[in-house]
Amino acid sequence: MNVHDTARIAEVMGQSGYELTQDPGDADVLIVNTCSVRHKAWHKGISEIGRVCNAKKRPDVVVVAAGCVAEQEKEHWFEKMPTLDLVVGPDHYAALPELVAEVQAGRERHILATGFDRGRSEDFLFANPDKKQGPTAFVTVMKGCDERCKYCIVPSVRGPERCRPMDDIVKDVETVTAAGAREITLLGQKVNAYASDGATFADLLARLDRIPGLARLRFTSPHPKHMDPALIDAFGTLPSLCESIHLPVQSGSDHILEKMGRQYTSDFYREITAALRHRCPDMLISTDLIVGYPGETDRDFADTIALLEDVRFSGVFSFKYSPRPGTPAAQLQDDVPELEKQRRLAFVHDIIAKIEREIRATLVGRRYDVLVEGRGRNPGQFSGRLRNNQIVNFLMPSDVKLTEVGGELMEVEIIRAMPHCLEGSLV
Ligand code: 5AD
Ligand code: SF4
Repeated sequence: MNVHDTARIAEVMGQSGYELTQDPGDADVLIVNTCSVRHKAWHKGISEIGRVCNAKKRPDVVVVAAGCVAEQEKEHWFEKMPTLDLVVGPDHYAALPELVAEVQAGRERHILATGFDRGRSEDFLFANPDKKQGPTAFVTVMKGCDERCKYCIVPSVRGPERCRPMDDIVKDVETVTAAGAREITLLGQKVNAYASDGATFADLLARLDRIPGLARLRFTSPHPKHMDPALIDAFGTLPSLCESIHLPVQSGSDHILEKMGRQYTSDFYREITAALRHRCPDMLISTDLIVGYPGETDRDFADTIALLEDVRFSGVFSFKYSPRPGTPAAQLQDDVPELEKQRRLAFVHDIIAKIEREIRATLVGRRYDVLVEGRGRNPGQFSGRLRNNQIVNFLMPSDVKLTEVGGELMEVEIIRAMPHCLEGSLV
């Protein structure tokens, strides 16, 4: 989501005549986008802003702190870093050029733009019809989150749930597909809670599926409790909807899930994923996991490992729990020692690496369509993804240019499973 936000910031500034530069010493405006979801990301953002402020040589250079850490720190940041000019939360990117101009005109020294909009149609940035799109693109369908998972800072830095009107989303998907995108990923903090004018998320998918030129549809991140039967039935029914899902589980222990406020049990999660695989037997499922949540015992962790082995995820983003300021979990004792968190994380990595290898090995010898996205790892190789989201590298005849085949669907036979990707051969 933040990668998309950064791209939108660049786009908004670009529309006002700014150009990206590779050399920060050249820049008139330095913008640091930040994430506060985990302590490590927060720390990285804070350090980067500090570094950029200290490196500010010319007084006319405008330094901007953007994103969730900006929303969290608000005006306190100006006290800590007097050379910082602008603090801009996630709902204020459209105003960035104007705010930068105000600083440049010397009208204001420190400008704070935080707080949340009402989620009206115009509060979402529309796709730019003049921008040439790559093979894949993101489209935001909702922002914010009304859930209260006890460890999570997102609701306080991204605000309440606000959904875009379906017509606006359709327009954006039409714009980006007309400009060259073949695959769209719908974005939202809790994307499958989408609801607008009586339409559900499943309705939205069905509507988008009919858009000419759209070959593949994905979404991130859904909440398991909103995986209702209509949404599950969309898989294997809508031709564009890909046979893969990233469905954050966070823990396999019912005791910890309850303490996290996730509102489902590990068995419910098993049922949902089994139902998805009933619709699409080859569906690949990935997830997010937190290890070392307050009170997580060896027994709880063993339940998580059992879930990993039962569901057989094709990928896991696993994180050590870190308390986030203002969240209910931050009141609990962070009682799993750091070394034990590291041990659990390493254990998860090992198990998942083994399962991922086994899953990839089952794909060898099969044929799939790959959406060509870019150059591969080795000379002469191109790279793309399958509908199940696996990355494939494959050799292309030397006279074929990426500009000719980028965005094309080509058939490959999988010839080898590598540790993190597949190798294929053009059919
Ligand atoms: N500590 C560790 N991981 C967290 N996540 C969210 N909050 C925390 C936290 N306080 C993880 C969750 C979420 C992902 C984006 O970040 O796994 O799905
Ligand atoms: Fe955070 Fe996701 Fe829970 Fe919302 S649903 S509070 S974004 S973890």
